[in-house]
Order: sequence, then structure tokens, then C-alpha cells
Amino acid sequence: MVDRNGWGRDRPVLTGSPHSPPSSFVEQANVTDPGIYETFEEQWPECWERAADLLSWDRPYETVLEDDDAPFYRWFSDGSLNASANCLDRHLEAGRKTHTAIRWEGKHGERETYTYRDLYVAVNEFAAALRDLGVEEDDVVTIYLPMIPELPIAMLACARIGAPHSVVFAGLSADALATRMDAADSEFLLTCDGYYRRGDAFNQKSKADNAQLKLDQDVRTVVVDRLGDDLPHVLGDDEHDYHDLLETFGGETVDPVPRDAEDMLFLMYTSGTTGEPKGVVHTTGGYLAHAAWTTHAVLDVKPEDTYWCAADIGWITGHSYIVYGPLALGTTTVMYEGTPDYPDRDRLWEIVDRNAVDIFYTAPTAVRAFMKWGAKYPERHDLSSLRLLGTVGEPISPRPWQWYYEHIGDERCPVVDTWWQTETGAVTISTLPGIDEMKPGAAGPGLPGTDARIVDDDGIEVDPGESGYLTLARPWPGMARTLYDGDERFRTEYWDRFSDPDDDEWRYFSGDAARVDEDGYITVLGRVDDVINVAGRRLSTTEIESAVTDVGGVAEAAVVGRSSETNGTDVCVYVSTESGYDDDGAVREAIVDSIEASIGAIARPTTVLFTPELPKTRSGKIMRRLLEDVANGEELGDTSALRNPEIIGEIQAEIHDR
Ligand code: WT7
Repeated sequence: MVDRNGWGRDRPVLTGSPHSPPSSFVEQANVTDPGIYETFEEQWPECWERAADLLSWDRPYETVLEDDDAPFYRWFSDGSLNASANCLDRHLEAGRKTHTAIRWEGKHGERETYTYRDLYVAVNEFAAALRDLGVEEDDVVTIYLPMIPELPIAMLACARIGAPHSVVFAGLSADALATRMDAADSEFLLTCDGYYRRGDAFNQKSKADNAQLKLDQDVRTVVVDRLGDDLPHVLGDDEHDYHDLLETFGGETVDPVPRDAEDMLFLMYTSGTTGEPKGVVHTTGGYLAHAAWTTHAVLDVKPEDTYWCAADIGWITGHSYIVYGPLALGTTTVMYEGTPDYPDRDRLWEIVDRNAVDIFYTAPTAVRAFMKWGAKYPERHDLSSLRLLGTVGEPISPRPWQWYYEHIGDERCPVVDTWWQTETGAVTISTLPGIDEMKPGAAGPGLPGTDARIVDDDGIEVDPGESGYLTLARPWPGMARTLYDGDERFRTEYWDRFSDPDDDEWRYFSGDAARVDEDGYITVLGRVDDVINVAGRRLSTTEIESAVTDVGGVAEAAVVGRSSETNGTDVCVYVSTESGYDDDGAVREAIVDSIEASIGAIARPTTVLFTPELPKTRSGKIMRRLLEDVANGEELGDTSALRNPEIIGEIQAEIHDR
């Protein structure tokens, strides 16, 4: 039923042969009792106290879950706490002030180490500076920074004074930044002069400046000088230098503001099914508890570990698993500014080796690249410090899974394939590495205390082996509470489709298709909405289409995902032009430029195909699913509903050799 449409291009056809967790791992794992699934079942929702117990509360909570206003659930709602105090102060109080909190590896081999004390000092100073700039509790502070230590410092400084942060990935365009600042009514911005990408200096400040031209509100801006003389910049009115501020507020401390568990910790914009990005709201108590719990139970992190999540803090993965989860547990978190292949393709393994990294967590797209480059790169280094490997962000097929397991983990490290989303806040589906068998190609069962169900169009659970929609039938602490743009959109995007409010039956719809096997292991097949996953990054095809149709001469456009060996999915654009314009290169270039300007280089298409018409139904609807099948060389179903079936053959012939 769902498969007919070809959902999920990277779907593993079969799962590979299972592996038991290595006994050397099990002996030391944080969670080893197989009874945990049953216990959580019997004690639901109180089972989630285990997560909350990993945190320090200013005011203890008494209610675990309030569900009388579903789907607006409230977790630990009568408790209060501060996220920055949980990530910093309590570790100092426990005598761990000289322990390394952040190990930063810069683009050009620079290294910086922040102990918990160093991080505490910087966070306090910047919190004092933010206050002085006028930031008050509940003001949204936008952070537009690459992977430099000032990024987590600023996030924790915001958390300290109760100002929600909205981190915008540094690679997004000026337009994308403006849209997000506007939607959040944000009057404070932290950015930098620029950053290095491969050998080049990129100007970030000019993007931030351009974004501000589009905003109605006055914005106070803080600029980190990352590039020094490599990219001189001037500060205008209402612009402040980050390091000057730290100097001015040197040695100051700011008492962490107690926040209600349900108070917003941050906002994270993500792509939805319409062109408008969604502002996903995460809270202080439930989110932090869930992030810390999964860092402990799924990633098996211990305070003495050196732990590395090679993602970007500009996305949810970095929020939960570079910043909040690991720092809440008091471990050493590695932060890497560069790319895996610069200066050479062994860069990541050199960092693992030199820092004796215990746990490594990355995206399948990176694993596919490692596999393509070959085993000789990891073989140059001693990777014996590794204890556990993880993947996140897209499906991983059995072959790259097996390669990762053998060549990086030496068959000694469990691999966790973790499924979750910006909206779930933290991992929701994964094996528990000290308990469960691993099946390459399947993420695993829902975590203890969750209830993942694969259902058909009517919301009825499908049989094992059949594909359906991935839903969650129970709330969980890290879940998004609402969308910043409104409760109504939250309900329609996630809950309306499979819930039955009359029966008080609530089902969260993930937007993914999946199937489950006899053992309850879930294989996620991919999105069923207008979202595509390019190299683990979530993009809206509608948003890209609107950038394409903005270009002069473009009559109509359809954007679909095209499967790609390294990126999982690439952006594929079909366009028809107005008469007088044709595939003259100039239009093509303008299309690519427009996409980069409205979203960023991450949405750059690999295929732009010009066609006299797009295939349409008799009622005039563009058949995007069919175009997706064509792009992927899939067999086409019935095309008789088309008004112009002849166009399909032409497009097929064209796209074949691109
Ligand atoms: C979408 C969410 C989770 C943080 C990074 C992405 C896909 C995520 C897996 C996985 C198959 C996965 C889904 C999901 N996805 N993890 N282990 N196996 N697909 O967060 O940007 O909100 O994207 O990523 O399609 O819906 P995101």
C-alpha cells in the first residue's frame, strides 16, 4: 500500500544478519537489564522518572505527566530547574571543575579545551552581557554561528537567564535567517564575521546584515571575531564585539533563573510540508530529561568518556547530543569545526585516535562516504579506544552498517541506529546497546516507555513485514510541546491524521513510512510528505519549488528527491519555461542561485531538467510521485490518469543520462 508509491528511496530491502552485543560491551553498559521494557510498561508514565532523576531540580516535581489537554501534554510540570545549572554548576559542586567539558577541534588544526570551570566562567560572563544588552526572560535570542565554542556557550548563557535560543544553521541563507527571526520576533542576534570552509574564508556577517534589511524589528547584534585579519569587519550601531563583552563582564556571575519544567528552553526551525518552516518548541524539564536519559541509555555515555557526535549544533542532533545530553551528564564532548575529508580523508580517525574517543555518533551519509573512500583511511589510526558507534538522520542500509561495524568498530562496538526527529527532541527508536541484538537495516524497537506503531490509512496496525505510517501512540518527555506559529498548526501537522479526539485517543504522526518485523524491530523507509532528506538534512520540496518559480522565465516546477549513493537523496528539479526562455544555461544558473539564496547551498540541486510540460492529472495537479519514480528509474504504475502521458517518455529519455 505505502510501498506502491515508492516511499523511502534508501530503504534497505532486507535486514542483514543479526549481531549480539559484544560481551565486553555488555559488562560495562549503563543499561543491561532486559526487564527494563516490561518495567517501563508496568510503571508508565512514572517510568520516566528515571530520566528526570538524572537532573537536579530546584523544585522537585510531583506530577510526571498531565494529559488532560492532549495533545498538549505537560511533563514534570510542577517542578523547576535550570538547564545551564544542570550542565555546569552541579558538576563544579561535585568537584569536577577541572574535567574537560568541551574539546574543540578547529578547521585548521587549532585546538581548544574548556574545562567545566572554563565553560562556567564564559557562560556566566556572556549571560551577564546578554542581560546588559536588554535580554529578558522569554526573549528569543537567535544564534547564527558555525561550529565554534561560542555557540554552545551562548546557548547555555541563554538557558541561564531563561531566554529561549533559536539556533539557525550557519550555512542557511540570509533569507532563511530573516524568515526565522521574523517568525520568532527575535530582537537579538549572535553571529560572527565569517568562518573557514575548506581553505576559504566565508563571510557570515554580510549574510546577517542582509537578513536584517528584511526585518521590521530593531535588532541588537553581537559578533564573534573568528577570522581576525583574514576577514576584517566593522561594527555598526547596536553591534557589539563578543570578546569585548566578555572582557567587560569578566568574572561576573549570574544566578541561574529557575524555570518551570514546561518553560521553553529553545526553538528550532525545521522544514514542514508547506514552504513555511516550523518553529518547534522544546521545554526545559522534559526535553533535558529525555536528552540526558538517551545519552545515558542509548549512547552509553559515562562522565569519564570522551564522546563525539560529529553533527552540527545548527540542527537538533547537535542540540541534544553535542550540547545538552552530554553536558548534563558531565562528560567530555568533542566539537569539530571541519569536514571529514580536509586536509585528508582520515581526519576524523586522526581526531578519534589523538583524543582516545570512546563513542562516535554520525550520519549514514558520512558512513557511505567512508565506505566509498575505503578502509585504508581508518587503518592509518588506532581506533581501539572506541566502545560504541551510532548513526542518526536517515536510514542506513545493511552494507554501510556492516562496513561501519567492521572497519570502524572492529566488530567490538555495538552500532545503534537511532531514529528520532526535531519534534521528538531525542531518540525514540533504537536498540539498547547493552541488551538488544542489532539488525543491520532496522533501527530497532521503540525505546522503553514509548509506543511506536506502524499503521495503515485507517490507523489500524499493519502486519509484520507490511509497510505503513510510523506513529507514536504515547507521549514522551522530549516531545515538542507546540509550534511557535501556533497550537493549531501543531495539531494539524502531527495529530489530526490518526487521532480520535472523541475517544481521547492520541496518535503522533511522524511523517515517515516504516515497517516492523516479527520481533518488533522497525525499519524506517523515509518520508511520506513533501520533505526530503538530503545528506541527513531535512528540506521541504515546496520551499525549494517556490525558490525555483521565483526565477524569471520559469513557468512551473516540481522538486523531488533522487536517490544518490552518498547523500541518500539529492535534489532534482523539473522545470518548464515560458515561451521565449529555454534551457540556455542562464535560466539554469538563475535557478540554482535562487535556491541558494532562499535556503542555502545545502539545497543545491544535482539535476535540473527542462521539459516542455510537467505531467499532470486531468484536474491539473502535477504528479510529483510519478516524477520521483522517473528520477529514480523506478517502474511506473498506471499513468492513464494523466492528461499528457506522452511527456513521461520524453522525460525518461532525458533524465536517463544525468
Ligand atoms: C527525519 C527527521 C533525528 C535528528 C536528525 C534529523 C529521518 C532520522 C533516522 C533513522 C531512518 C531517520 C526520518 C525523520 N531519520 N533518523 N535512524 N532511520 N530515518 O532530524 O531533521 O528532524 O529529520 O529524519 O525521516 O522523520 P530531522
